[in-house]
Amino acid sequence: MADVPLSPEQQAVFDRIETTMDNIFVTGRAGTGKSTLLTYLSEETSKQLVICAPTGVAALNVGGQTIHSLFRLPIGVIADHDIEQSDELRKLLNSIETLVIDEVSMVNADLLDAIDRSLRQARGRKNEAFGGVQVVLFGDPYQLAPVPGEGDERAYFADHYRSMWFFDAKVWDETDLTVYELATIHRQSDSEFKWMLNAVRHGMVTAEIAERLNTTGARPAPTDGAITLASTNATVTRINATELSRLPGRALTARAEINGEFGGRTFPADEALDLKVGARVMFLRNDTQWDGGPPRWVNGSVGTVLKIDSTVWVEIDGTRHEVKPAVWEKFRYSYSPLTKSLRKDVVAEFTQFPLRLAWAVTIHKSQGKTYDRAIVDLGPRSFAPGQTYVALSRITDLEGLYLTRPLRPSDIIVDENVVRFMTRVQAIPAIQA
Ligand SMILES: Nc1ncnc2c1ncn2[C@@H]1O[C@H](COP(=O)(O)OP(=O)(O)OP(=O)(O)O)[C@@H](O)[C@H]1O
Ligand SMILES: [Mg+2]
Repeated sequence: MADVPLSPEQQAVFDRIETTMDNIFVTGRAGTGKSTLLTYLSEETSKQLVICAPTGVAALNVGGQTIHSLFRLPIGVIADHDIEQSDELRKLLNSIETLVIDEVSMVNADLLDAIDRSLRQARGRKNEAFGGVQVVLFGDPYQLAPVPGEGDERAYFADHYRSMWFFDAKVWDETDLTVYELATIHRQSDSEFKWMLNAVRHGMVTAEIAERLNTTGARPAPTDGAITLASTNATVTRINATELSRLPGRALTARAEINGEFGGRTFPADEALDLKVGARVMFLRNDTQWDGGPPRWVNGSVGTVLKIDSTVWVEIDGTRHEVKPAVWEKFRYSYSPLTKSLRKDVVAEFTQFPLRLAWAVTIHKSQGKTYDRAIVDLGPRSFAPGQTYVALSRITDLEGLYLTRPLRPSDIIVDENVVRFMTRVQAIPAIQA
């Protein structure tokens, strides 16, 4: 992914991150290259930069650490409880220049305030937001929302915050957040489709747009294994199990090898991956083991299993590729007294074929990915803000859209807090940065 040259606007935002200490929120519609820029930043920065993310899988995807493990924070609302910090943690937090948080839209206000307090405390700079660290946030609030907690947690938020969202954290009363909105969409090229997606994003779908999406989507779904993006886990499991059982022969199971402390539910791929010849599979990683030209696949590519051996042969668009197991590395940052700087060590490894059955995948897990075509199954109703937008915006071309049922107005849920924040901030077009 780092192979694509940055666009001028991505370059401009990169330069702002590199040359200022501003707190920056990098946002933009689906497919505007936020993740691409983050990957580039992690490789090219000259700053002492630490990357973290709210969930284990998100952290693995960007070669970072979860927020909770980086800051050694307890689970649940942190409020104004004391934050315990070992010497080692203090040193680590002292050596950070820039803290990058990916998928920040899933970070709640309490957690962001805890990060702020933790950095002030460790760095002994009680009166400076984030203890003087530059924070750079990546995400799109129109796609993924913070996970609403239990009853107590919700009550806490209702009493203490305007909303659960990171942009309503108290730290923003004391410091500024500069918003750069990447404007150029790289995933889709057709301007009509981009315009329709934008309407879905903002909950401004007119009858005309709905008609156009529904007419296109109503075509019979292709039977040659197009991926289904479904809102529920149950639908995904059912479709994959049914399709796998339809294939002749016995399934072979590839078991993941896990070394080190990987922690509960944060596996980046199936621990036991059932495959058969003929199975539709999706790649979970970019191709990294190949130096013979352009990558053979990217995260999200879909293909068919041809042969299963000690490796798996997969056909993508008529070409056979040998797929070897991939290693996901769980990182942990620490402070190295020797070099007086940050260290990043691998603390655990998860080895598995970078594949998942791909007759169906949840819309949530499809976030960040790109498909030529997909069957969108919203079930009885879409139930999360941004869900329909994430699903539709995965597809590169309107001609690739298939719907199991017509879209209804109730499928399009936009969080009013997001509208408030995103319309109030004067997102500076990145190109002018
Ligand atoms: N500067 C660029 N030039 C060409 N293609 C690009 C560029 N930046 C990104 N892309 C491509 O556009 C697609 C979307 O990029 P990326 O996944 O980084 O977007 P994103 O903003 O993270 O999207 P999402 O919000 O859906 O996660 C990818 O296929 C990526 O390779
Ligand atoms: Mg992304």
